[in-house]
Amino acid sequence: MIWERLQNMTNKVVAIDGPSASGKSTVARRVADALGWLYVDSGSLYRAVAWKALKDGIDVQSSEALADLSATTAPEFFVCEGAVRFRLDGVVLDRELRAERINRNVSPVAADPTVRARVTQWLHDMLLLGNLVMEGRDIGTAVFPASRHKFYLDASPEERARRRHAEMADVETDMSVGDVHASLNRRDTIDSRRMTAPLSVADDATIVDSTQMDIAGVVEFVVEHVKGVL
Ligand code: DC
Repeated sequence: MIWERLQNMTNKVVAIDGPSASGKSTVARRVADALGWLYVDSGSLYRAVAWKALKDGIDVQSSEALADLSATTAPEFFVCEGAVRFRLDGVVLDRELRAERINRNVSPVAADPTVRARVTQWLHDMLLLGNLVMEGRDIGTAVFPASRHKFYLDASPEERARRRHAEMADVETDMSVGDVHASLNRRDTIDSRRMTAPLSVADDATIVDSTQMDIAGVVEFVVEHVKGVL
């Protein structure tokens, strides 16, 4: 039923998937600005569920506890500065979602099938808000498999660790590039090996390796590609 509803809609989705720190956020945000579409960070929803679990003292390894948690978690979505944002338990979550304690706990949360079904439903509902540029791990493979605009962004593990370390400088100061590399590696391994919607390349996705590319080059490539298909 949800597919009928979605397929009847004229709003479109650009799916930008890839591993942690491959440049998805910056690229997706700029592509959204260039197209005048709404930017969506799907990972922030998994992070928000992890944030609520930690706040409410819920065991992120327990599927029963996560099922109860997802049933009672209800973010309120709104559009702000070209992006879909949300409020959870009265708080507009932002920087707190990037803390290392969330990084450490989000993968088991994101691996849980009940949590994934709930987040996927929220992501589908966002299509009512407008055309979307959505970044994540499973947007082209599982959330919007019928999208005609799918990109898989990648970069070498060393380059990804360097970028994420630079990004984190004002949030966490005590991690080395090596620590960040290990943390990314741990999460990517769990994200790629989980049973439900693992990180993988959609058959019809365009792969972009940004290791040697600057952001502007990647954005231009994606925007031109999307315009060519519209
Ligand atoms: O992109 P990120 O680092 O903020 O993602 C946080 C976690 O959520 C990470 O473990 C991957 C997972 N995730 C996912 O499984 N599916 C998505 N569409 C987006 C993120």
